[in-house]
Amino acid sequence: MKQRNTRSLKTKHIGQYVCENCGSHSPKWMGRCHICGEWDSYTKLEGEISKRKTNPSHPVAITQIGVNREERIETTIGELDRILGGGLVPGSLVLLGGDPGMGKSTLAIDMLNRVAQSKRNVIYVTGEESPEQVKMRAKRLGIDSQRLFVLAETSLENIIEQIDKISPVIAVIDSIHTIYTEDFPSAPGSVGQIRECASRLMQYAKAHGTSMLLIGHVTKEGTIAGPKVLEHLVDTVLYFEGGKEHPYRILRAVKNRFGSTNEIGVFEMQDSGLKEVKNPSEIFLSERPVNASGSVVVPSLEGTRPILVEIQALVSPCNFGVPRRTTIGLDYNRVSLLVAILEKRAGLHVIGQDIFMNVAGGVKIEEPAIDLGISMAIVSSFLNKPIDSDTVVFGEVGLVGEVRGVSQAELRLKEAEKLGFKRCLLPRTNLERLTVETSLSLIGVDSIEKAIEALF
Ligand SMILES: Nc1ncnc2c1ncn2[C@@H]1O[C@H](COP(=O)(O)OP(=O)(O)O)[C@@H](O)[C@H]1O
Ligand SMILES: [Mg+2]
Repeated sequence: MKQRNTRSLKTKHIGQYVCENCGSHSPKWMGRCHICGEWDSYTKLEGEISKRKTNPSHPVAITQIGVNREERIETTIGELDRILGGGLVPGSLVLLGGDPGMGKSTLAIDMLNRVAQSKRNVIYVTGEESPEQVKMRAKRLGIDSQRLFVLAETSLENIIEQIDKISPVIAVIDSIHTIYTEDFPSAPGSVGQIRECASRLMQYAKAHGTSMLLIGHVTKEGTIAGPKVLEHLVDTVLYFEGGKEHPYRILRAVKNRFGSTNEIGVFEMQDSGLKEVKNPSEIFLSERPVNASGSVVVPSLEGTRPILVEIQALVSPCNFGVPRRTTIGLDYNRVSLLVAILEKRAGLHVIGQDIFMNVAGGVKIEEPAIDLGISMAIVSSFLNKPIDSDTVVFGEVGLVGEVRGVSQAELRLKEAEKLGFKRCLLPRTNLERLTVETSLSLIGVDSIEKAIEALF
């Protein structure tokens, strides 16, 4: 009895099954998680998590807290620094996810090399490749730095020991799914291991001020494999987007404790590595067909930067069965909703048509400010009438067919002006509240019918 009590003080028995999606526990297996509703997500968790001793903290007056931690480590990759909110915060944990071959390892080693140039130690820990393979990539990228250390290791204890010897400013763990701690008997990549390793790395990072970049694999659905708690644990979550068929890679901050979210960085994959794309609007519009029906340019705001992208629609009569809808880079449900609004509020018979939509260049946009652009692309293709190629369109569309104002209209207009556009269709409320001068001719509309009237 006595023995049992001491044991329960030191260790914590955790539920035998854990949900891979949200990390909740259950003493028995269930087909569906009772917390997040995910099906078939429970896996058996073996072992026990030992309770660690923690030093008690004391409350401190906010005026007494120093801010020297806010210094940033600039990676000198402009696009990366911007999405991080101005560089890496010392002691922060960044999770970088993306499909295989997107360039996660390439970006990570490039970043380390640049930081190492300023005479600071950095380390690249790889659990997937041998040091020779890392060297081969580094050679291709032209990386050669005395201060960049490579460690091929998968044991967490050894990794922390080695990191401690070098005391680097940044440590990259490629990938978190390959490392394991000896305290935990389950296999590397299992939920318990990932969570335990990540939280141990976080403790190290916070205590020593070392920034950590953890590389993670993604599942078929595109989220980082492993428990959702991993995303909650880290300070910043970055995802690489973009298909392999495009050379462009989009790095998006989906969570950031030290900067704005949804900020995107655009890169181009070349032989010599990932190159920053400083003027993404120009790239995304470079192959735009002029005066073709179904094409419209929208100034979309991703994070703090406006980007002009082309939305394309192809509407064709459905000859058989249920009409088809396909969307690439746009939210399927949003498009269906806008189609229904066009049918009901603007009297266009588009519901029975096959509709295919695409965002050129492989970008994904989700903000509602592109609603009006999506609607106008559909109308243009349906009527087979092109929209003037020097026109941009933005605005949110409500269920009654009203066009609602969006945020940051000035930034959107400025970007359109910079790229030589002449005309803009925008929500009337935005036009009335406009505070800047612009050379664009502005058409303010408050309903989808008026928007159609103005353009066609
Ligand atoms: N020898 C090579 N020459 C040119 N590009 C290469 C070469 N090897 C790999 N790549 C490019 O690098 C990408 C792989 O990058 P990597 O950083 O290893 O991706 P990840 O770590 O995300 O899986 C591939 O998609 C490919 O485009
Ligand atoms: Mg890799």
